[in-house]
Parts: sequence; C-alpha cells; structure tokens
Amino acid sequence: MDKQKLIMLPGPTNVSDRVMKAMLGPIINHRGDSFRELYKGVLDKTRHLFQTEGEVVVLSSSGTGGVEAAVWNLIRPGDTAVVPVFGEFSTRLAETVEMAGGKAVKVTSEFGKVPTLEQLKEAMDRLGKFKAMFLVHNETSTGVAAPYLEEASRLAREHGAFSVIDAISSLGGYAIPVDKWGVDVCITGSQKCIAAPPGLALLSVSRGVVDYLKSSPPKTRYFEIPRYLEYGAKGETPFTPALPLIYALDEALNELLEEGFAKRVQRHDRMSDLLYDGLAGLGMKAVAEKSVRSKTVVASYYPQGVDDAKFRKSLAHDKGVVIAGGFGPFAGKVFRVGCMGQINEGFVSTTLKAISETMAGFRN
Ligand SMILES: Cc1ncc(COP(=O)(O)O)c(C=O)c1O
Repeated sequence: MDKQKLIMLPGPTNVSDRVMKAMLGPIINHRGDSFRELYKGVLDKTRHLFQTEGEVVVLSSSGTGGVEAAVWNLIRPGDTAVVPVFGEFSTRLAETVEMAGGKAVKVTSEFGKVPTLEQLKEAMDRLGKFKAMFLVHNETSTGVAAPYLEEASRLAREHGAFSVIDAISSLGGYAIPVDKWGVDVCITGSQKCIAAPPGLALLSVSRGVVDYLKSSPPKTRYFEIPRYLEYGAKGETPFTPALPLIYALDEALNELLEEGFAKRVQRHDRMSDLLYDGLAGLGMKAVAEKSVRSKTVVASYYPQGVDDAKFRKSLAHDKGVVIAGGFGPFAGKVFRVGCMGQINEGFVSTTLKAISETMAGFRN
C-alpha cells in the first residue's frame, strides 16, 4: 500500500485522521434508530452547507451521480436547457442533458475562459422559455470559476427555468447560499472542499423542484429525488447507504461547523492567493485571468520544455506531493493544484517548495 502523500489534487483531497477514523464506526441497521439519528444530523449539517431551509439529498455515488440525478429529475424528452460549456465537466453535463432526451443549447467559450453573463442572457432571450440552466460553477478541468451564479440564476428564473449549479469542486471553499440566490438544485461532492473521502454526492432541492416532481415523476430509480425526500423525512435513505462514508461526512461537516463556514471560505481565499502568488514568483503563468480564476483549482502553464508526466511523477515520488495534469487542449501543457478542504499554509509552502525544487531539475 502507498504511504500517505500530500494530496494536492483538485479532488480527492486530504482527509483528516479524525474523519478517516470515523469510518471505523460499527455497521448498524440503516433502518434503526441509531442510523436515523446520525442521518438526520447529517441532513441538518448539509442544509447549513447549502444555506437552505429547503430539502437536501445525500447520494451514495460520486459527484457524477449527483449531476445525473439533477438532469434525469428535471429533463423530459424534448425539453431545452441552456448549458454554458467551457471545459470537460460542462461538456459532460451538456451530453448528459442530451442523453436524457433534452436539447442542450450550449453557450461556449474557449477553455480557460468563462462564457460571459451577456452571452447567457442572449441565449436565454433568444429561446424565450426553456426548462433549465445547468451551470458548472467551477470548471475543475481548467481552473476557472463563473463569477455570476446569483445573476445567472435570476436570469433563468425570469425565463421560467430552473437554475442548476454543479458546485462539485467549489461548495465549501465558496459559499453558495442557494435560497438567497434562487438556485433550484446545487450539487457537490464529498471529496473536494468538504474534505471527506470520495463517494458521496450532496444536493439541495428547491420547493419549486419538489412541486414539479409531484406533477411529473422522473424516470430513474436510483436517483429518484422524491423517494430520497420521502425517506429523508424519516432519517433514512431509500437504498442501502454507504455507511462508513456517512460516518465520515458527519465528522467532516462537524469539522466545517467547528471552524465556521465563513472562516473556511476566507481560508480558501487566502490559500489560493498564496498559491497563485507563489507560482507567479516561480515564473509560472496562471491559465485564468484574475477575475475568473478559481480559488479551489489553481491551474498554471508549465515553463517550456517540462515534461508533464515525468514532472508529476518526480514530484510525487521524490517529494511526496501529488498534483494533477491538464485536460483536453491543456494536456501536457498545464498542471493543476487543488486548494481545497484542509488546505493551510503548511500544505501551500510544502507544495511550492516541492514544485520549485523539482522544476529546477527539469530546467537544467
Ligand atoms: C465540476 C465537476 N463536475 C463533476 C465532476 C465529477 O465528479 P466525480 O468524479 O466525483 O464523479 C467533477 C469531478 O472532479 C467536477 O470537478
């Protein structure tokens, strides 16, 4: 088995010993009182995370399951959805809409940039009415974040559409107050800014979506949101939950509450500034313009001549620091550093030192 390295990936990310140990809790009956008490607590803390008084769902699936759930619960054959496409995850989201029988109207920008709010408005105005907007907040594949969640959600609502935000790699490092901003479904994953192990997807669900699903039941079983809400009200899940992960999520949310959500968001702000500044100090250029750069995924171009695979292998083996490469058009040209969850000054300085020393070897 590998020795634990410093995991500076854009997810999964480092998990505290306290959260890892929580997974050793006993196997219990998921239809019994102990589980109900545990799970009701998890749902309450999840509400806090989304800053909602409304409904929340925890799925035993990775983030993709959460996206799949949002799409298959809202899209019916023939429906139109507006999907900003500016990286790998938004491309997949548009494909998922089409797989569900919908038509994805893509609003595109170059990878590394974000479509503008004006582009979104133009597409929405052209359509008049449409079913939903599916917006990836933080394009993990390129390190950019859409800076207009509230405005885009308002625009969607003004067109009678649901606003769905994929915040898988951002919620917890960013605050997304879903009730205040009128977000109908927001999706996140356990393995990113929440700093729990991979394997759970968390969703907020607005009253409007609950009402819609009553009138139009979705054609999916594992991801059937109404069933999760019915069971959730009793402190249960409709299907057998990934119990050790629920224990871990509970503890990770306890850590988040103890730190305080606002403080956690500020910590992500500060640490990403340190990472961007540190990499710039090493002579590296960030992929994103400052106004749209992500504070949870720091993507930077390699200096000329550095071999991506060899560099990252050396960084992991010799320095014990694990980072990610680039996606699509950025493959081989860009590396990505996660700035999530447990991120602190020590992690940042260790990472910058390791990058600097390893890079020096590659430049000679
Ligand atoms: C923005 C975004 N959407 C979707 C996903 C897919 O999540 P998962 O790999 O947990 O299924 C990811 C994963 O990195 C992501 O960053």
